[in-house]
Amino acid sequence: MKKIGIGLLGLGTVGTGVYKLLHMRADDMEHTVGAKLEIRKILVHNINKKRENVDSSLLTDDWKEMIHDDEIQIIVEVMGGMEPARTIILEALKAGKNVVSANKDLIAEDGRILLDTAQENGRDFLFEAAVAGGIPIIRPLKQCLAGNEISNVMGIVNGTTNYILTRMFEDGMEFGDALGKAQELGYAEADPTSDIEGLDAARKVAIMASIAFHSRVVFSDVYTQGITKITARDIAYAKDFGLVIKLLGVAKNTEDGIEAGVYPMMIGKDHPLASVRDSFNAVFIHGDAVDDAMFYGRGAGEMPTASAVVGDVIDAARDIQHNCTARINCTCYRDLPIKSWGDVRNKFFIRMQVKNQPGVLAAIAQVFGEHKVSIERVVQDHAEPESAELVIVTELVKEKYMNRALDELKSMDRIYEISSVIREYAE
Ligand code: NAP
Ligand code: HSE
Repeated sequence: MKKIGIGLLGLGTVGTGVYKLLHMRADDMEHTVGAKLEIRKILVHNINKKRENVDSSLLTDDWKEMIHDDEIQIIVEVMGGMEPARTIILEALKAGKNVVSANKDLIAEDGRILLDTAQENGRDFLFEAAVAGGIPIIRPLKQCLAGNEISNVMGIVNGTTNYILTRMFEDGMEFGDALGKAQELGYAEADPTSDIEGLDAARKVAIMASIAFHSRVVFSDVYTQGITKITARDIAYAKDFGLVIKLLGVAKNTEDGIEAGVYPMMIGKDHPLASVRDSFNAVFIHGDAVDDAMFYGRGAGEMPTASAVVGDVIDAARDIQHNCTARINCTCYRDLPIKSWGDVRNKFFIRMQVKNQPGVLAAIAQVFGEHKVSIERVVQDHAEPESAELVIVTELVKEKYMNRALDELKSMDRIYEISSVIREYAE
């Protein structure tokens, strides 16, 4: 039977899963693809490291060996990072290989050049695993939902932060303790910055928005705020209001351009995303024909991510078999503007510590009024002789007006501290 050779770049968490899954499904390939899929080489950093149940004769630390191997038709990049991954992928495409990648960092930055190079060379560049791991979302957006005008993509696309926020909500933990628990369980890395500061989610939002709205959105276009400032007290208020706090990636295609952001948001307990717990991910989209649709599952991990990668490998292998590679590559045929973040409208929850004195609330309300911020609700708690905690929920307001109001409030001596500013979901 015909063989299709594979070069695997990386044998870490995802690479090991891909290696295992390709072996588990080896006998099915005759039926699903009509060819045998054979891993011919595996690139690793440390060739001397012991690898359980892996044929060590396949290991190499020289990526050029794969480029020069004519039997290799598909390169699977699961090594991560910008370089040398970028150079290897571009060289592989130019050498006529099809490429499958899980590398969100690289795609969120350089998606255009990777896809253009694939197209110029008539090859596939597929990256289902780059967003929400095992959950199918790239292919549904590019294919199954291609008949829709997608206006909205909103998702929980980082499992580590969703786990942390779930522990804070369900067990009353403070952020630091919940992060420690996530690290203990292996969800969060030793350096968790990319997850907890929202950077990992922002990369996924850039990729999803580009595909959903057919217009390139890169990582730096995405407003990003993490969850490090969320406290157990904010969570307690959310509970009182019948809300939960989630780190959401939000992308909207509006008349004035694309809005793209990642930030913690209070959402109603009845919203479908509110019930996404622990390390699970979910993406909620709205299309003009399909209406609302939600995709739910494992956003990371060895086998869930391998599931998405191997799905792409099978797709590329089928395209090779039918001589139709590069059938669907870049779908960004528009050039829409990115909306300035200051012009994006949001609703805000503001918790502050103020002097407990007549006239303070009136002074705060006046500042909001002067900056076009309309107040929806006011709650006062913890009133002591000297200080009180005040929570104000606003109506929808442009981010720039909110920021100007907050700057003025911070300079008032009767306001001791603005403790939290969290966005609240509004239709
Ligand atoms: P990982 O566990 O750190 O594995 C990386 C692998 O690549 C290792 O085998 C490493 O070799 C090899 N490697 C790294 N740099 C190399 C270099 N310069 N030359 C040769 N080999 C090199 O990473 P991972 O968690 O599997 O993630 C891989 C990719 O998948 C990343 O782009 C990540 O964002 C993406 N992804 C991961 C997940 C997940 O759940 N982990 C989910 C979705 C997407 P050694 O083994 O010798 O160190
Ligand atoms: N670190 C990510 C998460 C998984 O916690 O969801 C890789 O994208």
